[in-house]
Amino acid sequence: MEYVAGPVLGIETSCDDTSAAIVVGKRILSNVVSSQADLQKKWGGIVPEAAARSHTEAMLPAISEALRGSAVGLTDLTGIAVTNRPGLVGALSVGVTTAKALSLALGIPLVGVHHLESHTLSPLIESDVPFPHVCLLVSGGHTELILVKRPGVYSKLGGTIDDAAGEAFDKAARTLGLGYPGGPAIQETGAAGDAKRYSLPRGLKDPSFNFSFSGLKTAVMLLAEREGEALDRPSAAASFEATVAEVLSHRAIFACRETGARAVTLVGGVAANLRLRATLARAASEARVDFFVPGASLCTDNAAMVAHVGAWRLSTSRGDDFDLDTEAVSSLPTGEAI
Ligand code: KG4
Ligand code: ZN
Repeated sequence: MEYVAGPVLGIETSCDDTSAAIVVGKRILSNVVSSQADLQKKWGGIVPEAAARSHTEAMLPAISEALRGSAVGLTDLTGIAVTNRPGLVGALSVGVTTAKALSLALGIPLVGVHHLESHTLSPLIESDVPFPHVCLLVSGGHTELILVKRPGVYSKLGGTIDDAAGEAFDKAARTLGLGYPGGPAIQETGAAGDAKRYSLPRGLKDPSFNFSFSGLKTAVMLLAEREGEALDRPSAAASFEATVAEVLSHRAIFACRETGARAVTLVGGVAANLRLRATLARAASEARVDFFVPGASLCTDNAAMVAHVGAWRLSTSRGDDFDLDTEAVSSLPTGEAI
């Protein structure tokens, strides 16, 4: 990938993390993430209005810290990249408005970045991933299998027909009384459990590029009801985690086989899950497919992955065009790239 010369500021506020980062091409100079986890713990999930207000408070401190941490001054910036779609529109607007104001004040170009594209290209920051490859994107709002033909050219192979993988983690954690966000809580509790103790349903029948997690969610609820006080929580968490990891890995390798891709990447917040990383690594090795996964801090929402896409996109534009028409978009028109 080609990148614009000079530092790019990335801004990410699509969901519940306020993040600012400075990159020069693939080199991350700083990546500041201010999480709203405490706020969400209080509410038991994301409240859009509260998330937007919290972004407003955290945005400028995050940018200041990112600049300080990278020793880059505002006037050294070459361009600005901001997540503008898809996401909570009130939350996105905080980042987009901040980015527009900075772009106008500094006289530097602004590029709006698709959140899923920034996740999809995140493995390229740390590794030379060959094309085409299959990308398994698993986050709180999305679960997709994407054929990445080259940067900017994607074809969606399949996705969830109900809950996203991260949503399934969050709901299962709530059922098991493990708190929010569910992914890290299940991982922590499940580490001490026996993943074979409870047998859980795997969703759609093979072969398929699609996923269904609602049956699994219901099965965990029924298991908790049936076992009551006798429930072995660590083993329930481990069994759930292992089932999700196996289903996701199985489908991703199937997608490689069907498309002829020789590499698979794992991205999005759920890609931070250790059991999933290990399961897909093993499946890929058995199938003789190369496997790439970013470090955990590049899996969950962060602005470095946004700045990375911005640095690439700015290298292909004239570099003097202000994209001040950039608007926050909550959902995607059908047919958009990913
Ligand atoms: O990509 P992300 O940070 O935000 C979205 O774009 O949705 O993903 C958030 C999701 C949450 O559902 C969270 O529970 C899940 O990622 N997650 C994990 C882990 N860390 C975060 N799921 C499983 N294991 C983890 N270690
Ligand atoms: Zn995300």
